[in-house]
Amino acid sequence: SHKEVKKIACIGAGYVGGPTCAVIAYKNPSIQVTIVDQNTERIEAWNSTKLPIYEPGLDHIVFTARDGIVAPLDHNLTSGKPMTVQLASTMNGGTLITGLDGHDELCPRPLDLGHAPNLFFTTDMSSAIADADLIFICVNTPTKDSGIGKDYACDLKYFESAARKIAEIAVSDKIIVEKSTVPCKTAQSMRELLEANCNPGVRFEVLSNPEFLSEGSAVSDLLNPDRVLIGSDSSSTGVSAAASLSDVYSWVPRNRIISMNLWSCELSKLAANALLAQRISSINSLSAICEATGANINEVSYACGLDRRIGPHMLKAGVGFGGSCFKKDILSLVYLAESLHLSEVADYWKSVVAMNEYQKCRFTRRITHCLFDTLTGKKITILGFSYKKDTGDTRETPAVTLVRNIFAEKCKISIYDPKASEQQIWLQLAEDGGKLEKLKSRITIHHDIYEACEGADAIVVATEWDEFSNKAITPRGPSAWTPSSILRGVSANGNRSHTPTNQIPQGETFSRVAPTPTIAILGGSGTPSRLPASIDSVISRN
Ligand code: UDX
Ligand code: ADP
Repeated sequence: SHKEVKKIACIGAGYVGGPTCAVIAYKNPSIQVTIVDQNTERIEAWNSTKLPIYEPGLDHIVFTARDGIVAPLDHNLTSGKPMTVQLASTMNGGTLITGLDGHDELCPRPLDLGHAPNLFFTTDMSSAIADADLIFICVNTPTKDSGIGKDYACDLKYFESAARKIAEIAVSDKIIVEKSTVPCKTAQSMRELLEANCNPGVRFEVLSNPEFLSEGSAVSDLLNPDRVLIGSDSSSTGVSAAASLSDVYSWVPRNRIISMNLWSCELSKLAANALLAQRISSINSLSAICEATGANINEVSYACGLDRRIGPHMLKAGVGFGGSCFKKDILSLVYLAESLHLSEVADYWKSVVAMNEYQKCRFTRRITHCLFDTLTGKKITILGFSYKKDTGDTRETPAVTLVRNIFAEKCKISIYDPKASEQQIWLQLAEDGGKLEKLKSRITIHHDIYEACEGADAIVVATEWDEFSNKAITPRGPSAWTPSSILRGVSANGNRSHTPTNQIPQGETFSRVAPTPTIAILGGSGTPSRLPASIDSVISRN
């Protein structure tokens, strides 16, 4: 007896709102989904053929839902041409279809049309809100940079402004869904805010429905989620709103949709991210021990992961975690613990972040050490700048720490990333306190990997993009890269074990979590080798 959702609005067309609501539209041809954002440039990009974010598989989902499926070429169509269908209805045993251009055609038999466009991107907040039965809030909630809770608490200013806008516009009942990660109890303040500001007679039901997608695999995570959490009030209206939202996840097996209390639901998101990040910090702390003892962290990780109680996931040591979620969510948890006067709990989670900072800096020191403790005047090439492969996202990327630290050693830096935009990289580096002009005097961003590697003293793979493992580094010009030997396992105490290049199988992909920096000393001439794709590879030329 719950209400059927026919129109959805999504506020925020970012990494969360865009893919999530595109998949919802794709999977529910009968629901109209409108994604709004105040950023005109972003909306223009979503309406173009070059989407503002890169995610494998996303183009197909968006183009299908946004532009509609092209009706298969049907010879009975008067025009005889395939057309992108905007509207279709049955008429006299046939199908009347309207193309995107408004042109009508009558097909004398029933057509399996699949999809008419049902995904829209706009900056027009008011009409999207006014029409919707259900509104997802997918705005960003960064860490506060001033005031109470500075550096820990989530800044809810975008969240609040979206809520105020909804209260102002809505003249019919709405289900409001928190999708952005928010502090525990936000739904309550949200409800109070909506009720205090709404038009007479309008009722809101606030649900929590956190998103667990991981960037780079967002589409497959959305299509096949481990679980969908829906938190609601236990009142009958709350339960009924939860049921309406549950129907929106029409493609998810019912036993993976978990209903729970609102606060549990909000906290589960923070808890899940904290637990995942904690595993990475744990394994990274062990990688330091491995490097000091000659143990191999990949072997240790593999050995531990085989225990089913531990499991193999999120157990790869690397240069430290990045991304917009882990650090932010742990800090938000720390803030919550502190506000509850649970200082031991706060300290425990703080140490997960501290370990991550340590790991990032430790990696920089290893690079310097491998290059005879001085980088002055050398050229270092950084391959990869996004915080992980298959995304152009650079938020909290360990590459920033890396570049900042080696820049201080007075070297020249060349950066190449397959997807992160040049503008984004500069923005990120400058945000980190560096003056742009000064940075530009010794940093170059390349669009060609070979150009980036030309004449470098060392190549550092900072992101595990597949293309780095499949690419033979054979730059054009006089300074051809020709590895003669690979040194692996350079440990802090300077022990080096040599492995000849020919023992590295072609195309071998070292996980980004290679145990200890893999170093290839290149020189002489010979057959080009593939670059080991270890995130902590340093390849230097003698
Ligand atoms: C994470 C959570 O996985 C996701 O469920 C949540 O919704 C948002 O935060 P995301 O940040 O996109 O997703 O990526 P994730 O794959 O979790 O990686 C985060 C960081 O940890 C990356 O920098 C990655 O390189 C690093 N990482 C991951 C490791 O260092 N080792 C691992 O074993 C896994
Ligand atoms: P996330 O990774 O959480 O999706 P993003 O920064 O990628 O974060 O996306 C959040 C989006 O929300 C941005 O595109 C931003 O312009 C948009 N946004 C923030 N506040 C509002 C608001 N009040 N109204 C509309 N859009 C908003």
